Amino acid sequence: MHAPAPSPLPARNLEHAGASILVFGDAATACHAAADRFADTLGSALQERGRAVLGLATGATPVRLYASLVARHRRGELSFADVATYNLDEFYPISPFDPKSYRFYMHRHLFEHVDLAPNRAHLLDGTVPEAFVAEHAAQYDRWIAADGGLDLQLLGIGRNGHIGFNEPTDRPVAETLALPTRLVDLHPITRADASREFGAEEEVIPRALTLGVAPILAARAILVLAFGSNKADAVARSLTGAMTSRVPGSLLQSVPGKVTWFLDAEAARGLL
Ligand code: PGA
Repeated sequence: MHAPAPSPLPARNLEHAGASILVFGDAATACHAAADRFADTLGSALQERGRAVLGLATGATPVRLYASLVARHRRGELSFADVATYNLDEFYPISPFDPKSYRFYMHRHLFEHVDLAPNRAHLLDGTVPEAFVAEHAAQYDRWIAADGGLDLQLLGIGRNGHIGFNEPTDRPVAETLALPTRLVDLHPITRADASREFGAEEEVIPRALTLGVAPILAARAILVLAFGSNKADAVARSLTGAMTSRVPGSLLQSVPGKVTWFLDAEAARGLL
């Protein structure tokens, strides 16, 4: 097998709907560039305020980004000593020891490899009794605000255009833009995609806690990663379609200047 030719960095630089769009030859190169941006944002926040508050995402897409951050930490280039993190979502209910939980994912891919203080790594809690879930979700939003807000929110996008587990709906846009952190039902496409981890669609936990659209959009910078042809449609509809609650990614158009998309050529197919 030939080693692939090194792809230019970035291959293309586009703009749509007030967002900056970086298109790379492959996902590995895109993740490396996203890790550069992540580290730069962390460094600027440390310089400006002495601390950084980062919104983290899970799923298949950011695995190589986390590997790249861990490598930088091991080389002594990146420290999480003055960082607080807030994760985007979690299945509900779920035990933190369940390998399918996002808490487990974060430990495996990042937390156990870096110097982040355990009490500064925040995740929505899949074990909170249902009677207290609304209070837990509201408290999560208050914690982020009390921490000074998110310097950066990392996002993937679902095939159905979801961000976090803010799923497609028929709500008026203004209502969706104001959605806080809360418990939601997963969309059929999300459940179908999660069957990859759960073994079968009927096994997928049908509800989840998600950071709301409002706290996501309030982040000072937003990095969206999407790779592969199965994301091309959601990416194109988010960037070139009208703002609609049917495609939650399109709501990122409401914060022009904040959003950078890191795409591989396949995910960008509908834009080129
Ligand atoms: P994935 O999920 O990274 O596993 O494709 C992305 C998302 O659903 O936001």
